[in-house]
Amino acid sequence: MTAPAPAPRHFLDIWKLEGHELRAILEDAKARKAARRGWPKGRPDADRPAEGRTLAMIFEKNSTRTRFSFDAAMRQLGGDVIISNAVDMQLGRGEPIEDTARVLSRMVDAVMIRSNVHEDVERLALWSTIPVINGLSDRSHPCQILADLMTFEEHRGLVEGKTFAWVGDGNNVCSSFIHAAPKLGFRLNIATPAVFHPDMMDLARAAEQQGQVKTTQDPREAVRGADCVITDTWVSMGDTDHDERLEALEPYQVDARLMGEAAKDAVFLHCLPAHRGEEVTDEVMDGPASLIWDEAENRIHAQKSILAWCFGAI
Ligand code: CP
Ligand code: NVA
Repeated sequence: MTAPAPAPRHFLDIWKLEGHELRAILEDAKARKAARRGWPKGRPDADRPAEGRTLAMIFEKNSTRTRFSFDAAMRQLGGDVIISNAVDMQLGRGEPIEDTARVLSRMVDAVMIRSNVHEDVERLALWSTIPVINGLSDRSHPCQILADLMTFEEHRGLVEGKTFAWVGDGNNVCSSFIHAAPKLGFRLNIATPAVFHPDMMDLARAAEQQGQVKTTQDPREAVRGADCVITDTWVSMGDTDHDERLEALEPYQVDARLMGEAAKDAVFLHCLPAHRGEEVTDEVMDGPASLIWDEAENRIHAQKSILAWCFGAI
């Protein structure tokens, strides 16, 4: 009798990984980035850990950073990619995601999906015999948060014991920060209007895991003394209540005055795309505290290590 195949290593949400696995991914990302400093962006890493492997990418929503960074990441790991928008696939005409999972499992070595509905990411993973990566859903954006934490650590050292302040909409990116806080030991203050409060299940899970996550409706209270201030668009992909959001979130703009409440050497992060003049001012985006371009670049480095972890190379 043959032994059952080992379960694939899916990267669906940060709360599903152990703290030591997340730390290993972050350290691998920093080491890989350092080892290829000054190289042309298309040259593969010396160890080519994805040699002979193909990543399929499925997009149900728009993307610039996730699309390009995963493609560049696979090339740097020595592997290959196949990219498709879901509307161009039979998935877009109603083929079940369970069947898509079983077909792609026979054709490629891993799948990244950007999905409208988080449950579809879970269903894809359940029926796949290869690793599935969540490239953003309505509920979370785990790849983004590893790039964000890596960026912070490059400039300010380990996140453990530091204070992060999330200001604005309690959205999918905010959820992944909540997932990461107890795993990596940073404090997280979240300021949102009551109507755009973060997910209660995420907060409850973080509390169970002894996470230091606090919520408030006062942006100044959240930002006071923080080492890192983060915001995101007030209208995420799929949100239909544009006017209501802009009105409720207006007091949550990250401007120089709000940044002034943070620690003296605080940094600013934004996953992008940004809506300058809404959730953040030009002055903050282009100011000395802003790490947004390093943050965008680090999507490549963090995702290379996520992929390496999925392939069992970490
Ligand atoms: N931050 C991010 O995921 O950007 P894209 O939507 O461009 O992929
Ligand atoms: N919260 C945003 C993130 C985009 C990268 C969205 O879901 O549209």
